[in-house]
Amino acid sequence: MCGIVGYVGREEAVPVLLQGLYKLEYRGYDSAGVAVLRPEGLKVVKTKGRIKNLEDKVQQVGGMEATCGIGHTRWATHGEPSDVNAHPHISRNGRIAIVHNGIIENYLELREMLTKEGYEMQSQTDTEVVAHLFEHHFKGDMMQALMDTVKDLRGSYALGILSADDPGEIYCTKRDNPLIIGVGEGENLIASDIPAIIQKTKHYIVLEDNQIARITPDQVEVFNAFGQKLEPEVQTVNWDISSAEKGGYEHFMIKEIMEQPKALRDTISPRIEGDLPRLEECGLTDELFHDLRNIHIVACGSALHAGLVGREVIERFARVPVSASVASEFRYRNPIIGKEDLCIVISQSGETADTLAAMREAKKRGARTIAIVNVVSSSAAREADSVLYTWAGPEIAVATTKAYSAQLAALYLVAIKAGLARGTLTEEEGKEYCRKINELPELITEALRTRPQIQYLASLYSNRQSVFFIGRGVDYAAAQEASLKLKEISYIHSEAYAAGELKHGTISLIEDGTLVVAMANDKALYEKTLSNVKSVKARGASVIMVTNEEVEPDPEICDFVVKIPDCDPALSASLSIIPMQLFSYYMGVYRGCDIDKPRNLAKSVTVE
Ligand code: AGP
Repeated sequence: MCGIVGYVGREEAVPVLLQGLYKLEYRGYDSAGVAVLRPEGLKVVKTKGRIKNLEDKVQQVGGMEATCGIGHTRWATHGEPSDVNAHPHISRNGRIAIVHNGIIENYLELREMLTKEGYEMQSQTDTEVVAHLFEHHFKGDMMQALMDTVKDLRGSYALGILSADDPGEIYCTKRDNPLIIGVGEGENLIASDIPAIIQKTKHYIVLEDNQIARITPDQVEVFNAFGQKLEPEVQTVNWDISSAEKGGYEHFMIKEIMEQPKALRDTISPRIEGDLPRLEECGLTDELFHDLRNIHIVACGSALHAGLVGREVIERFARVPVSASVASEFRYRNPIIGKEDLCIVISQSGETADTLAAMREAKKRGARTIAIVNVVSSSAAREADSVLYTWAGPEIAVATTKAYSAQLAALYLVAIKAGLARGTLTEEEGKEYCRKINELPELITEALRTRPQIQYLASLYSNRQSVFFIGRGVDYAAAQEASLKLKEISYIHSEAYAAGELKHGTISLIEDGTLVVAMANDKALYEKTLSNVKSVKARGASVIMVTNEEVEPDPEICDFVVKIPDCDPALSASLSIIPMQLFSYYMGVYRGCDIDKPRNLAKSVTVE
C-alpha cells in the first residue's frame, strides 16, 4: 500500500505535500518523491528511504517553488526500493508525472507493447508503464487520454497525474484503491487518506471506482467513466487533527493502546439503548438473523483474529454455525455460501484487497454482507449491504490495537442481536450481556494498569527468539492475536496454539527456558488449561500466566502471573489482549524496533 498526496492552490505546494506524506508514512515508507509544475515544466525529486530523506533532498536540490504538485510514499510491490523506482514516474516526453497506489496486473504486456513503440523503461515498476501509456494515448485532451489509458489497465490503482501542458490542474482516478479529494478555499487536494488533508480542510469527497476528477485551485470536477459530470457528496471529517497526532506519547501504538477505553465507549454507547442492542440503523434487523443457515466471517490478520473471537461468541449466544476464514483462502475455495447465509467482513481500513474480494465473492453467491470497518466511506463500507462502524478514531500505528478491540465490541453486539432475534437469548439475558459490555471500557482501564509489570517482563524476555501463546476457546482466539502482535512489532517468532493440542506434536519444541504465555480466563476450562501449563512447565518452559483467577506464581505452574479483571468468559478477549498488546510493544521497544512502522508491513494491504 502506498500514499498519494496532491495540492493545487495559492501556497507553496512542496511543504503541503511533505506534510501530507508524513501523515501517510504508515501506508508505506521505503521510498518517496514529489513532482511540481514549474514554468519550465515538471520538476521531480525522489529518493529511496523515508520522507525525511526526501525532505533533505528537496532542500539540497532547490528550485521547487510551485503551487501545484503531487507526492508519493511507497511500499514496494514491483522493483526494490530505490531512487529510480520511487514515484512520481515521468512519461518519455517528460510532460506527464504520475503517482500510483495499487498493482497493474497486465503491466508486462503493456510494457512490451510500449517498448516495441520505442519507449525505454527506466525502472522496474508498473507505474512507469502507466506514465508512458498515458503519453501514448495523449492527443491533447487530458480527460480523454486518462479514459483511454485506464481502459487498457487491469488490476487496481489510485492515480494522481500532472501534465506540463495543463498547469494548475491535477487529474486523478481510482479502481479498488482509496482516493479522496480535499475541498478547500482557493485550494484543493487529493490524498489516499484523510490524515493527509486534514491540516488544510475537513471537507472531502470520496472518489468512487472508475470516476475521474480534475482539480484546480477553485474547482473540483468529478466525472464518471464516460466523461459525464457528477455532483458528488462533500463529507466532513468527524474527528480532529489531534486524533492523528501522538499527543505526547512516544509512539502511536502506545497512544492507541491507551485510547482503547474511549474507542470501546464510542463504539458501544450509540448502539445500546435500554440495555438492548440498537443496530437497526446499521441494517442489522431481527429479520436478518431469523432464518440464517450459516454465518461466514471473513478477514485478514488481526481483523480475522477478532473474527475468531466473534465466532466463539456468536455461536455461544445465537447457536448458529459460524465460520471464520482467511479472506485470501475463502475467495478461491469455491465457498459454500448462498442467499441463506450472512457474510461478515471485518477490516480496520476497509481497503484490504483480499477482504474486499472475498466480500464480492460472497455477494456474487447471494449472501447478505455486513462490514465491520473503522474508516468511514471506505470501499468495504460502501460495497457491503450493511455497515457497522467501529468508532475507534484514526489508527495510525501499523499494528492495530484499538480498532481490534472495537471490532470485538461490535461483534459482541451482533452476537446479542442475533441471539435475541433467534430466541436463543432471553431479553433479560440480552440486557445482562449489554450491561457487561458497557462495563468493558472501565475494565480495560484496569487491565491497562498491568503496564509497569508488562514492561518489566519484556525487559526480562526481550532476548527470546521464540514465544508460544496457548489457550482454550476464547483464550485461544485471543492468543492468536497476541502472537501476531509480538511478531509484527518485535520480529520474534511466535506461535499461538490450542492448549489441548500441544501434546499432539508441538510440545517437542518445549525445552529449558522456552517462553510460554498461557491465557486462562474461562473458569469452565481453567483446570484443563492448567494441566497443559504444567506439562510445559515440567519440560523447562518459562511460563507467564494471563488470568482473572486468583493464583500466585508456583514452580510447578508459572513464573509470573498477570492478573486481569474478571469478566464474562465470552468477553474475556477484550481484557486478556491488553497486557499482550503492551507486551509486544515493550518487547519491540527493548529490541529497538521501529514500533509504528515495522519492517515489511503496511497499514492496509491493498494488493493481493
Ligand atoms: C494488524 O496489526 C496487522 N497490521 C494486519 O494483520 C491487519 O490486521 C490486516 O492487514 C487487516 O487489515 P484491515 O483490518 O485494514 O483489513
